[in-house]
Amino acid sequence: MLITIPDILDTAELRGIREILDQAEWRDGRETAGTQSAQVKRNLQIPLDSPVLPELQGRLVRALTSHPTWMSAALPAQILPPLFNRYEGGQDFGIHVDNAIRVVPGEGRQIRTDVSCTLFLSEPEDYDGGELIVEGHYGAQSIKLPAGHAVVYPATSLHEVTPITRGVRIASFFWVQSMVRDAARRELLFDLDSSIQSLTRTLGTNAADVVRLTGIYHNMIRQWAEV
Ligand code: NI
Repeated sequence: MLITIPDILDTAELRGIREILDQAEWRDGRETAGTQSAQVKRNLQIPLDSPVLPELQGRLVRALTSHPTWMSAALPAQILPPLFNRYEGGQDFGIHVDNAIRVVPGEGRQIRTDVSCTLFLSEPEDYDGGELIVEGHYGAQSIKLPAGHAVVYPATSLHEVTPITRGVRIASFFWVQSMVRDAARRELLFDLDSSIQSLTRTLGTNAADVVRLTGIYHNMIRQWAEV
């Protein structure tokens, strides 16, 4: 399942992050790629040793973890610190699947990548091409979202970024080890939680059916979560 989530960043947060990125040094993105994906990856990234990277990562993780829809979709146990990429002048990232295990730079801690996330930091009208294409059971989906919006999809998916033919595309990308490893279970939990939120708005938090469904949601988490 692929979930798009609007407004992870508000206008001020987006502007602050873009100001830092516009001053930063960018380097060849193959630094963080696996062997297969390095052969098809043509973009730039904020280097792992960049002095501005920790500040950018902190701002983004704070925004993500305070966003209820993102939390409900990803159910994070661990978040790999977000990275930032930039495509321009025909750059692209050919079809690949992301590494299953990634090491947190500087820590050595390993994270299993269950969920992939791309958070768009350029407005769609500022570039042509640069679509994120994700293959799934229902065919390939093409994603290009407004700045500050994100997409969450199973990290098991083959995906690519199409060549950019005008302008500059800046985004953040990162992975989550989810408390719920199985994508089908995460999808059920997300759908149930979304319905509970919707019923809460019409019936109120303490309506008997809302209370019962909330209990079922938490009991399903108890069955399936690894923490
Ligand atoms: Ni990838």
